[in-house]
Amino acid sequence: MSRVVEQYQRACQSLAGGVASSTRLNKAVGHAMYFDRADGCRLWDLDGKEYIDLCCSHGATLLGHGDPRIRRAVERALDRGAACSYENEQHAELAALLCEVIPCLERVRFTGSGTEATMHCIRLARAFTGRSKLIKFEGNFHGYHDQVMFAIGTPADQLGPDETPNPFPGSTGIAPGLQEQVIIVPYNRVDLLERAFRDHGEQLAAVIGEPIYYNAGCILPTREFLTALRELTWRHNVLLIFDEVLSAFRMGIGGAQEHLGVTPDLCTLGKAVGGGYPLSVFGGRKDIMDRLMPIGDCQHSGTYNGHPVVVAAALAAIRAYREPDFYIHVHAIAHMLFDGLTHLFGKHALSAHVQGLGARFGIYFGLKGAAHNYRDAVQHQRASMLAFIKAAIEHGVYFHDYGGAACHHGFCAAMTTADVQEVLHRLDTALASSFCERVAPGER
Ligand SMILES: Cc1ncc(COP(=O)(O)O)c(C=O)c1O
Repeated sequence: MSRVVEQYQRACQSLAGGVASSTRLNKAVGHAMYFDRADGCRLWDLDGKEYIDLCCSHGATLLGHGDPRIRRAVERALDRGAACSYENEQHAELAALLCEVIPCLERVRFTGSGTEATMHCIRLARAFTGRSKLIKFEGNFHGYHDQVMFAIGTPADQLGPDETPNPFPGSTGIAPGLQEQVIIVPYNRVDLLERAFRDHGEQLAAVIGEPIYYNAGCILPTREFLTALRELTWRHNVLLIFDEVLSAFRMGIGGAQEHLGVTPDLCTLGKAVGGGYPLSVFGGRKDIMDRLMPIGDCQHSGTYNGHPVVVAAALAAIRAYREPDFYIHVHAIAHMLFDGLTHLFGKHALSAHVQGLGARFGIYFGLKGAAHNYRDAVQHQRASMLAFIKAAIEHGVYFHDYGGAACHHGFCAAMTTADVQEVLHRLDTALASSFCERVAPGER
């Protein structure tokens, strides 16, 4: 038995489900993966097998594993004693840097995870507006707290009508009645967004959304949708929150809001912001952020908020993203990888296409056209996707399956053009052998 499977079985004896986080189980292989070490864009599992990483810590690792700049910053913070729950000069330095590079940020706060960032942002929006309802887009993911655990991973046969999507709970254990605070609207549907504002405009505190909908692979908002979103929120004095936990730094230093040219009132940042260390951020307009204690009356606190090690790592990461050629390289790799995958799918007569922007992308199996929202994405052929991921892993390319609709994948900036060629070569072999054995031509 492989040491990876053996480790999984051992972990199941004491860790619930064998994992520290439910989505770490990779359903394509039926167990969690156990990696011994990582370097740049590569991972080695407990059996010594090497993989090129196209999960990249679910988006947290944008520079690559073990980046020496991050390592030096972390070591310096450790040398200074890493005293947490106090402020040091790097907190203000990082805050100033974020306010300089992200358009909507005039003030920021630090938290630990993306989940905490959206939770605090929503509380602040309610405190500021004195209203309680939220618009949330169907399928958009904003973390694991109860306020937003609706309409994520809804099975295709339980979506409900376009006009009134089912607020399908993403978990059991959520207090009844909470779903009444959340109005679900399908992404990219201007007509239904207008209708939601007509019906609920007076009671809405905020609209929260993924400005690039990476949680269903990679779905771009249309220009009409973005324009309507900004105009309707202004007109009804509703706050616009961009959840940039996954999109921040992915395609440019100013995140999706800079890329799209739309400035929200508040935003959240996570994953890449900490350079692989657990930092998240929420922030935005000064007048809104001033409602936080100790100036205002809205609470946000936490023992580990802005831990000195993660703040040091984040400063090093953002300085690296600001290097002149950083995004030129990211876009060149993206171009080569997405084109290469498209070519491979054609060569192996696979009904699959890539949608990507910057360093993250989705692969959609069996759709007739592009995916514009969750309702499109959930129609993908999940069995083919799982067979593809399993074959890729067997051939040394690590993709992760999260369950649910099309997954997001990604690469790190440590990836070179030679690495992309190696990925494509390994996938070519995977598609020619293991994948073909599992998926009949008519099902591809
Ligand atoms: C857009 C978005 N928001 C929030 C979260 C939650 O972040 P975390 O897992 O750090 O709590 C995620 C995680 O994938 C995310 O993609």
